[in-house]
Amino acid sequence: MRTHTNGQLRISDINKEVVLCGWVAKSRNLGSLIFVDLRDRYGITQIAAKAGSAAYDTLATVGNEYVLKVKGKVIERESKNPNLPTGDIEVEASFVEILSKAMQPPMIVADKTDALEDFRMKYRYLDLRRPCMQSNLILRHNITKAARRYFDDLDFVDVETPAFGKSTPEGARDYLVPSRIHPGKFYALPQSPQLYKQLLMVAGMDRYYQIAKCFRDEDLRADRQMEFTQIDVEMSFIDEEDIYSLMEGMFKKIFKDVMNIDLVTPFRRIRFDDSMALYGNDKPDLRFGLELKDITGIAKEMNFVVFDNAINDGGIVKCVISPNASKYSRKDIDKLTEDIKKYKAKGLAWFKFDGQAVNGSIAKFITPEILAKFKELGLEKDNLVLIVADKKNVVNASLSYLRNFLGKDLGLIDENRYEFTWITDWPSFEWDEEENRYVAAHHPFTMPKDECVDKLLTKPEECYSKCYDIVLNGYELGSGSIRIHNQDVQETMFKAIGLTEEEIKVKFGFFVEGLKYGTPPHGGIAVGLDRLAMLLTHSSSLREVIAFPKSANAICPMSEAPSFVDERQLKELKIHFDK
Ligand code: AMO
Ligand code: AMP
Repeated sequence: MRTHTNGQLRISDINKEVVLCGWVAKSRNLGSLIFVDLRDRYGITQIAAKAGSAAYDTLATVGNEYVLKVKGKVIERESKNPNLPTGDIEVEASFVEILSKAMQPPMIVADKTDALEDFRMKYRYLDLRRPCMQSNLILRHNITKAARRYFDDLDFVDVETPAFGKSTPEGARDYLVPSRIHPGKFYALPQSPQLYKQLLMVAGMDRYYQIAKCFRDEDLRADRQMEFTQIDVEMSFIDEEDIYSLMEGMFKKIFKDVMNIDLVTPFRRIRFDDSMALYGNDKPDLRFGLELKDITGIAKEMNFVVFDNAINDGGIVKCVISPNASKYSRKDIDKLTEDIKKYKAKGLAWFKFDGQAVNGSIAKFITPEILAKFKELGLEKDNLVLIVADKKNVVNASLSYLRNFLGKDLGLIDENRYEFTWITDWPSFEWDEEENRYVAAHHPFTMPKDECVDKLLTKPEECYSKCYDIVLNGYELGSGSIRIHNQDVQETMFKAIGLTEEEIKVKFGFFVEGLKYGTPPHGGIAVGLDRLAMLLTHSSSLREVIAFPKSANAICPMSEAPSFVDERQLKELKIHFDK
């Protein structure tokens, strides 16, 4: 139908007779001349027609987003547009056919649009016509293409696993699908292919990967969708080091192929405990410093009742020291104090140091001796010290928020930097306050560190796992572990988290049975494809890199899913609701 796309023609094509197809992005009628910007996925080409020609008469009737076929000759433009790759030329139309008319679009179909996000999602097909959205989807495609090539070259086999299965142990709520054939029974959509990929190792597949759809019924956020995609990997006869170098190779290839960026490997590694200590979280943004300092020792000497109470209650005191203290007014700091209430912080103690004197909410406790100790920690002129005293998790969550706020607000973040890190040595267990017992910090098939196997039952709080996260610029991109392949260790693990025989059977019966028939040592990882695409496109939400996403309240504004269904459908499923 066409000889070229709208991104193709250059000055070297002058005098060629061409046929172009596309959408009307813009038209200008100057009386004696009409100009139309014709758009497709590849770019924009200017079409021109002179008054008196048939092409002019047709172009005079078109509106935005009409679909046209244009025949004409490539000519040099009188006024060139250096911002367009095709800006040196235009096509002088000899014939225009309207392939399809368009109603007046309800939003501006251009990178700079006036539409709010819900509206963009309602008219997603128009939103996706915008060049920036097309480029996001293409970049995402390039990521999967690079990943597939990488794994294919290394002999990984792409195996599809079922969407209708049994609950997997990722820990979010399942999406359930009622069975018509077995009324009262439900399939669970997979939260990940975890159990299947492990069983594929039992089956001897050795190296598996899949670009896998996962489903989790959890509250949606900017970096969380109810259905999302993982680059999912599992390998046999390997240890953590194999996974680290395999995945570093994958990221190296993706960054080179997609962005032409040479990543430096190996990536940094930070132990979980160190990450919590220095950054207050398990997904540190390493594009800037501002590491947190534990000042419990100093706080004990300050005679400040708030700190003393927190320490006596088993808490800690930590701070972040910010440059540019004069940027922040008392009002700004009050706002931050308010902000960290959502992490249950009871207050925010602070002082500024101007090189000589201190002032601020706890200035009177900063004696010369205490000031000297802060100077040892790096306190300098024009610094602001923000301090939180509380239970460890409250202190870390609050200061992690403040550190990230300061990093952004002080302009310390270079948006073009990619700082990867592995977070290693995760605790095996977490204390569940509600249930008053230890629960597995990851799924219960995660291998404990060799030196911890004997302590699983006696000292669970001292146990660490062969578990790792890959973190990029403050986001958890992926997560994985070496799995338990040894029956005795598996049984001890179940015991440690208090699972009864019956519970094990109901939850993972088929899986545990499978592990009894010769399980190779194995491990794997899953990387969130959506999150990776979000970071590489510098988007603020996953919705910018998913063609048809759900809104924050879990609906699709375009199709209006979820929707009510026919009474007949419910009858077939033997489902009825109390009215
Ligand atoms: P995990 O549950 O940590 O591990 O998930 C791995 C990665 O998937 C991405 N991700 C999400 N992305 C968008 N929306 C969500 N709701 C969402 N949830 C998770 C994240 C995350 O790092 N089976 C294990 C992996 C393994 O052990 O091999 C798993 O699924 O980027
Ligand atoms: P007050 O003596 O109550 O006026 O508090 C002095 C300062 O300590 C104020 O800036 C409070 O915000 C702060 N503060 C109160 N509780 C805490 C806490 N748990 N950790 C850090 N600072 C606190």
